[in-house]
Amino acid sequence: MLRFPPFFTEVPLSYAQAPTSMLHIFPDASSIADHVSRSLIEKIQSKPDVVLGLATGGTMEPVYARFVEQARALRLDVCRLTSFNLDEYVGLPADHPKSYAAYMNEHLFRHLGFDASRLHLPDGLAQDLPQHCREYSARILQSGGIELQLLGVGGNGHIGFNEPGTPFDSRCHVVELSERTRIDNSRFFEGNAVVPASAITMGMYEIMQAREIVLVATGESKAEIVSQWCRNDVTEAIPFTVLKRHARAKILLDEAAASLLPDSVRQSMLAMSA
Ligand code: F6R
Repeated sequence: MLRFPPFFTEVPLSYAQAPTSMLHIFPDASSIADHVSRSLIEKIQSKPDVVLGLATGGTMEPVYARFVEQARALRLDVCRLTSFNLDEYVGLPADHPKSYAAYMNEHLFRHLGFDASRLHLPDGLAQDLPQHCREYSARILQSGGIELQLLGVGGNGHIGFNEPGTPFDSRCHVVELSERTRIDNSRFFEGNAVVPASAITMGMYEIMQAREIVLVATGESKAEIVSQWCRNDVTEAIPFTVLKRHARAKILLDEAAASLLPDSVRQSMLAMSA
């Protein structure tokens, strides 16, 4: 019987670090991509069998493009690393062009010498979805846990597909996507294709168990939710506020995503960097 380590809320209800110190502003998305790519390379160089948690979405495209470019230039050996993706649409086979498996292949996996047996995504066609979710959680645990988790954030604050209201102790599960998320993601489904109604997602629990977390938010469309993150305490209504309880979580913003940060936050960031 697999046992989960103690739940992260054993961290006292207070913040694990000063929220402002988690925020880092970069001029643009490409400088964030460069920074994240370098961090990934350092991790892999120092621990070739590292376990990574990976995200999809528009935010990650420049990150993976830069990583592929730098990894190729360095002839980085990636064949021993293990990865777990955050999520997959229910009902889409891995070879469907809009599946997250296809996204990962297109933007990352096919470009470098990964060992396919170490690359994990939830299976959107699993017959017994609850059982599949339990197995996905267990596989993460058996791998020794995620060392570095990459995250994007939805316009409603979701991480993975943990929509607002998801309990912080949720494990990998099937989720009905919110209308907001389906509208946001319809940009990836041109023509008559319809955004699936549900998805499998790592839970808040598995995300928070990662030893280090890097969330990237770029573009004006993320400015409002980023300002909400600053203005609110930790709340399940804005899932990514939970990162305030993680001792090693960072939020990387470009100027557009940071454009609605409250003045007080800007000032304390300036004071900290002085
Ligand atoms: C994707 C994922 C989602 C996205 C989020 C932002 O694997 O888990 O949480 O990170 O929806 O998507 P983009 O980057 O397309 O704005």
